[in-house]
Amino acid sequence: MTILVDENFLEVENLVVGYRGEPVLDQLSVSLREGEVVAVIGPNGAGKSTLLKCLAGIVGARSGAVRFRSRDLSRRTTEARVRDGLALVPEGRHLFKNLTVEDNLRTGHFAGRQGHSADDVYEMFPRLTERRQSLAGQLSGGEQQMLAIGRALIGGPSLLLVDEPSLGLAPLVTKSVFGVLNELASSGMSILLGEQNAYAAMEVADRCLVLGQGKIQFEGESRTAEGQKRITDEYQKMIDVADR
Ligand SMILES: Nc1ncnc2c1ncn2[C@@H]1O[C@H](COP(=O)(O)OP(=O)(O)OP(=O)(O)O)[C@@H](O)[C@H]1O
Ligand SMILES: [Mg+2]
Repeated sequence: MTILVDENFLEVENLVVGYRGEPVLDQLSVSLREGEVVAVIGPNGAGKSTLLKCLAGIVGARSGAVRFRSRDLSRRTTEARVRDGLALVPEGRHLFKNLTVEDNLRTGHFAGRQGHSADDVYEMFPRLTERRQSLAGQLSGGEQQMLAIGRALIGGPSLLLVDEPSLGLAPLVTKSVFGVLNELASSGMSILLGEQNAYAAMEVADRCLVLGQGKIQFEGESRTAEGQKRITDEYQKMIDVADR
């Protein structure tokens, strides 16, 4: 069987995004092939969340182009992008803390795209099955992260934008969340990850992009020990610049 891979899956060209004053992302370009897992790593405030929010249509771009499956996204709303197959798992999870696990999953249907059923999600995250009647606010951090990923899957995405999944999680819990991302990747899901934790990111990513001063400063393949060493060295340089 031949599987056709969309080479023009996600293309970001010369993107300029900012809030006020100087842009946060300044002429940034990134591309991702279908089925690829790419991590954007960078220190605090580098603009990882800004990039992912811009792709999801939450933050507007000043200039530049974003194309998904060769379609220009600039005039598409967040809801339309969800229908196109883009889903954001936001930093901090943004769950409805006073709703149950089950009801949080239901909110994943908002854009009307048929994706995974709640049963599919429970199968992927057996821990959530046990907690389906619990309020989201009563779950552990790791369970909340799995619920946030599960909710995004309900929309049937083909590209998952995952922002800082390791946030506030103990190393072992981070490992299990990244295990889930790895399983999704093996099933063919394309993932663009924003992470401060380079070691966690390299567990799942095919490529890592080091973000600093508004641009991708380095791009490296993260499947080999040598590649990983170069990525961590380049990342350290960015942290040193940010700390100065
Ligand atoms: N809503 C906003 N209004 C104004 N400035 C903002 C806003 N959101 C982010 N910024 C600024 O944009 C820059 C990039 O922030 P962003 O959250 O994208 O970085 P990040 O790489 O995700 O950082 P972190 O690792 O802390 O999550 C920072 O200087 C931040 O203060
Ligand atoms: Mg962030």
